[in-house]
Amino acid sequence: MKKTVAILTSGGDSPGMNAAIRAAVRAGLASDMRVVGVKRGYNGLINGDVLEMDLRSVSDIIQRGGTILYTARSPEFLTEEGFNKAILFCNKEKIDGVIVIGGDGSFRGASKMTSAGVPCIGIPGTIDNDIACSEYTIGFDTAMNTAVGMIDKLRDTAQSHDRCSVVEVMGRNCGDIALYTGIAVGATAILVPEVLYDFEKDIIERMKFTQLNGKKHFIIIVAEGVGHVQDIARKIQDRTGIDSRATVLGHVQRGGSPTLRDRVVASEMSAYAIEIFLKGKSNRVVAMKDGKILDYDIAEALIMKKSFSENLYKTAFKISI
Ligand code: ADP
Ligand code: F6P
Repeated sequence: MKKTVAILTSGGDSPGMNAAIRAAVRAGLASDMRVVGVKRGYNGLINGDVLEMDLRSVSDIIQRGGTILYTARSPEFLTEEGFNKAILFCNKEKIDGVIVIGGDGSFRGASKMTSAGVPCIGIPGTIDNDIACSEYTIGFDTAMNTAVGMIDKLRDTAQSHDRCSVVEVMGRNCGDIALYTGIAVGATAILVPEVLYDFEKDIIERMKFTQLNGKKHFIIIVAEGVGHVQDIARKIQDRTGIDSRATVLGHVQRGGSPTLRDRVVASEMSAYAIEIFLKGKSNRVVAMKDGKILDYDIAEALIMKKSFSENLYKTAFKISI
């Protein structure tokens, strides 16, 4: 009897999810498994919205953003009734395991399903890079490259007008997108939720110092978890007299063709997930540590603390003068 593995994407979408779906489908089929795709995250298990996957069902998607399986945040799955419906469906469909591509919330759901007898394996798919057990999450690189492209354009107009551009990037409570993007665009200041900032010292004094050295336009990167870009821009203008504008980059960071890094990591992680599933492992989350792919128990992974690169943050400030 062939084993059946189901694949779903859950939570916010991220570029590279399609590459992950493709690799999981192909690796599963290559290992003589039946593979089904579940539509719209956990909702698909509740509503029985699944489709049979074959080799060609994932053709031409490695380069596409979004997720062909659609994604959702499923409030119904959080209820006892919804959750039981999902488990009942898995049993009825003889699903031996579920590959869940998503973030922390999705992994909590995966862990509950494993406890209820449906073995799950998680794969980190989110632009935020906020999964503590993994130094990398699928979509992070593409989102940052998108942000850098847009901020470079903002720099052109800020430079022409001698302005200050205050830009909010996504990341929920994680400052990684802001940190790396900020370095890549040569921001004068980078504000992240992990580090308390002093408005006068970290922004105004720095701007005034660089102004004395001839700098005339400025980019300030603000992580979503810090927010308030309009207020920050207004305060900068009041304190320095420099014309300032606020921009929230928003959901454009979640779309677009995945970068090479996202395609490769997604492919590696999915193939690995199928491999460990075949070995009988469950309640595991696939992760990257020191560039290598490995897996952790989901419960252990969920209590790990996400680290923030204070050194890189200090370096960013050191060189932005
Ligand atoms: P992400 O996976 O990106 O962190 P969410 O936190 O929105 O996104 O979670 C995605 C979905 O996972 C939720 O809509 C819900 O269906 C499920 N989920 C989240 N938290 C839990 C939980 N504690 N128990 C069971 N399911 C959960
Ligand atoms: O988790 C990805 C993310 O884009 C975050 O950066 C952001 O806080 C959130 O999702 C936005 O979610 P929504 O899709 O509900 O607008």
